[in-house]
Amino acid sequence: MSLLIQNGLVVTSTGSYTADVYVEDGKIKTIGANLDIAAQTIVDAKGKYVLPGAIDPHTHLAMPFMGTSAQDDYETGTIAAACGGVTCVVDFDLQQKGESILQALERKKSWAKDKVVVDYSLHPAIMDPRPEVIEEIKDAIQKYGTPSFKIFMVYDFRVDDATMIRLLKETKKYGGLVQVHAENVHIIDHLNEEFEKAGKLAPYYHAKSRPNIAEEEAVSRAAKMVEMTGSRIYIVHLSSKEGLDRVKEARNKGVNVFAETCPQYLLLDEERYKESGFNGAKYVMSPPLRTKESNKALWEGINQGHVQVVATDHCPFDIKGKKDMNGTDDYKKIPNGAPGIETLLILMHSEGVVKGRISLEKMVDVLSTATAKMFGLADKGDIQVGKDADIVIFDPKQKFTITQEKLHMNVDYTPYEGMQVTGMPVQVFSRGKKVSEWKDDHVEFVGQKGYGRFVKRIPLNKK
Ligand code: URP
Ligand code: ZN
Ligand code: ZN
Repeated sequence: MSLLIQNGLVVTSTGSYTADVYVEDGKIKTIGANLDIAAQTIVDAKGKYVLPGAIDPHTHLAMPFMGTSAQDDYETGTIAAACGGVTCVVDFDLQQKGESILQALERKKSWAKDKVVVDYSLHPAIMDPRPEVIEEIKDAIQKYGTPSFKIFMVYDFRVDDATMIRLLKETKKYGGLVQVHAENVHIIDHLNEEFEKAGKLAPYYHAKSRPNIAEEEAVSRAAKMVEMTGSRIYIVHLSSKEGLDRVKEARNKGVNVFAETCPQYLLLDEERYKESGFNGAKYVMSPPLRTKESNKALWEGINQGHVQVVATDHCPFDIKGKKDMNGTDDYKKIPNGAPGIETLLILMHSEGVVKGRISLEKMVDVLSTATAKMFGLADKGDIQVGKDADIVIFDPKQKFTITQEKLHMNVDYTPYEGMQVTGMPVQVFSRGKKVSEWKDDHVEFVGQKGYGRFVKRIPLNKK
């Protein structure tokens, strides 16, 4: 199968230029001006951007959580990804009690089989850190192709600090990476008790029960453990200015702390929890939405290189029946999480690039190139000869009003309902095969169930 994309603006993390891109057998074979090569499919990309497909390294597809399950499975979630210009997801795989890492991986791969429409990989989440599981980290990095491991400092399934230190040391030996959900559980438990006594149970108190300082303290503690062990850590869904300050402080000392943020922490703020009725529940996620000051600080963090990756934390639950708990009025019982996989690229372009907050090249870096490097996706993340032809033809002028009705995520709302964006993916290719395209007033899925492959990742840092 061959494909020639002509005259588009090829955007890379270091610069952009007009060129043709020739694809054969799923790989980028040649890039150059006016390529004289016959191809089965020719795409005229004049006036469009040719972007590497976005990579979402933070998804919770079909994840059992808080008495229910995240509603997008590998089929609906990756169809939504494809329609949003996301051509690779790295999904969390929560180890169950008694499971080995390999068993957890095989379980989640079986959920993906015959369903997944774009390429994917998995981050094992260590929830039952038995000695033999810690020993298995070597194989997970070297054999299974999963060199990053998620841990939580909150929730019932959190790990303690001693385990965190052990994991940091073990991953360091083989070039792995620990990813951490950093919030101080004791601060949150204490505030939960106080609000419970005071009868403060509305969604707004979800945000108040998880203040910035809870993130700041946990980031700071995690960074100290990294400093002590000489290892590396990646803070997932960084949300606050104060948390970012601790990331910067560590990085300025040469400590290997990396950070990810998400569109919701760049664009939305805690005022959303005050929406009428039980609508504030739409935004119940952890960490919670912060203030405009944190939004601004995080954009700066991206531009200064302290935040390397933008991901979604896609974890959708319907507002009707799930998040509203059929009328139960207690924020602590609302399933935490929100949809986002399909709006990642369009928000970062429209709110980031078009509004002048980041450059086009920076967008490509935080959505694709840096993400691929961070997680060892050697064949992804760039428009470069030899890479997988995961390519988005992006029309920077195409307008779209975000509405749940025109999106593909299996959920009854989007946090961005009614927002107008400029710029849409008009054709998306996964290893050279078209998986979605713009039709009339929305993007349609044109790919195939089961086409996606599990991608073995490589450890990047062997020190
Ligand atoms: O609220 C969130 N973020 N839900 C998903 C689980 C997590 O903590 O990432
Ligand atoms: Zn989390
Ligand atoms: Zn998450």
